[in-house]
Amino acid sequence: MSATLDVSGVSVHFGGVTAVDDAHVSADAGSVTGLIGPNGAGKTTLFNVITGVQPASTGTVTLSGNDVSRLPTYKRARLGMARTFQRLELFWTLSVLDNVMVAAEQAGDPSPADTARTVLERVGVAHLADEQAGSLPTGSARLVEVARALACEPKVLLLDEPASGLDEAETRQLGVLLRGLAAEGLAVLLVEHDMSLVMEICDTVSVLDLGRIIASGPPAEVRAHPLVIEAYLGAA
Ligand SMILES: Nc1ncnc2c1ncn2[C@@H]1O[C@H](COP(=O)(O)OP(=O)(O)O)[C@@H](O)[C@H]1O
Ligand SMILES: [Mg+2]
Repeated sequence: MSATLDVSGVSVHFGGVTAVDDAHVSADAGSVTGLIGPNGAGKTTLFNVITGVQPASTGTVTLSGNDVSRLPTYKRARLGMARTFQRLELFWTLSVLDNVMVAAEQAGDPSPADTARTVLERVGVAHLADEQAGSLPTGSARLVEVARALACEPKVLLLDEPASGLDEAETRQLGVLLRGLAAEGLAVLLVEHDMSLVMEICDTVSVLDLGRIIASGPPAEVRAHPLVIEAYLGAA
């Protein structure tokens, strides 16, 4: 059976720069897949290709066995893809509740307010519902983005550095949340620099370096891979 999300042979060129080079990655229902790599490795660009924000030069993206490579972002979202952004993209002048309600409404939810409150509760930020998004510290805003993504009831959740700006307790809480979502059958694809979080919650980790996947497997195996050690030391 194919994975919920399958990315195959994706390359992206920006002028003379190859940002992603023949990358393959998949995310299975019921698991958390890590995507790690040094800054500039191509992780965000790959997320942009998966979600239809960035056209790929080559390669395919399939969602539940359907080729979505040529679909616009909103259609991929309707088919079950949701993401958060490394550079946060909330509606800053709206309340937290409205940010999440808009997403539920766009997904065709008949009771968006109820859904918004439920996901805010789930993510642990229900107490911020009436705050203006622009007034939040980065960590809280990141969690609101996770809630907004969940309001669309996705099959695949793509998170671009969700723990950046979170304190230790919030990071631990995020880890518990992501494991819980996987246990409910979601496919979670996690780009993250916090290695202890990645090692703790991922079932599989793929490592991107200079646009190429250089290793893929269980976290402990990947961490000990010579190419991975070299990529990280080389970037230090
Ligand atoms: N819109 C763009 N135009 C030109 N180059 C880009 C663009 N976006 C990303 N890049 C380049 O592509 C490479 C990968 O960047 P990115 O995907 O942001 O990496 P990561 O998320 O792993 O840090 C980098 O060399 C970056 O400078
Ligand atoms: Mg990035």
